This record gives sequence, C-alpha cells and structure tokens, in this order.
Amino acid sequence: MSGPADSLYQRLGGRVGIRRIAEDVWENHVANPEVSPRYVRSDAAAIIRRVTDFICAGTGGPGPYDGPSMRQAHEGMNISHREFMAVTDDVLRALEKNRVGKNEQGELFLLLFSLRNEIIHQ
Ligand code: HEM
Repeated sequence: MSGPADSLYQRLGGRVGIRRIAEDVWENHVANPEVSPRYVRSDAAAIIRRVTDFICAGTGGPGPYDGPSMRQAHEGMNISHREFMAVTDDVLRALEKNRVGKNEQGELFLLLFSLRNEIIHQ
C-alpha cells in the first residue's frame, strides 16, 4: 500500500506499476496515427525499458537512468507541439486505464510538461 506522503514513484506502484504504464503508453503510440510513423523502426522492448527507467528516476525511485537526455533523445526529429499533445494524450489514457489517481496524474504531467522545450523542435 502507499499513502499520500509517499514518493510519486511509490504511488504509481513502483517499478512494476510504472513499467505497466510504459507498456500501455507504447501500445497507444503505435495505434495513434498522429505519432505511430515515428516509431516504425523502434525496438519496443528497449524503448519501454528506457522510458520506465526515466520515469522511475524522475519520480523518486531507486536506480540510475543511464539513457540520453531528453534533448539528445529527440534531437533532429523536429517534433511538433501537436505531436507532443498526442503523446501526452496517450499517457493520459494509459494512466486512466491503470486507475492512477488525479493527484498522481497531475504530478506526472507537470514532470512531462516541464520537458517540452527539450523535446519540441529539437
Ligand atoms: C515528455 C514526453 C516524452 C518523454 C518523457 C520521452 C521519453 C523518451 C525516452 C526515454 C526515449 C528513449 C531514448 C533512448 O533510449 O534513446 C525516447 C525516444 C523517442 N521518443 Fe520520446 N519522449 C517524450 C516525448 C516524445 C514525443 C512528443 C515524441 C513524438 C512523437 C517522441 C518520440 C520519440 C521517438 C521517435 C524516440 C526514438 C525511438 C527509437 O530510438 O527508436 N517522444 N523518448
């Protein structure tokens, strides 16, 4: 169980819960025509693992994130605002599916939103 004073990592269900969310986000991406062309050559397992590591590290979990920075990861892709919103929407649907509470949704979106300038038009 987790309570309101716990880290966001704990309230999202730890690594197991975050991994499940990352898997659902991935499924939403590949089914979303706004962004699916971006991922046709991607290694699903590798991306899911990296996104899981990144969210764990960013929400107060243990373990390092040893992947590229968000700027490095999205450099040269020229991602649009519209794509950013589409990805955010995929995340929202994954959080709803996993019954993540409104407070936790808000905290996670603040984190994602704070990264927008590292990702859009890089
Ligand atoms: C805050 C939002 C986002 C986060 C936290 C995020 C996170 C990540 C992470 C951790 C990786 C893996 C980096 C690596 O291992 O090299 C990645 C790769 C990628 N992201 Fe994002 N991302 C976000 C938004 C977006 C958006 C808006 C798009 C546009 C469609 C996008 C498209 C991609 C693509 C195409 C890859 C590379 C896939 C590959 O290497 O095959 N991301 N992202």
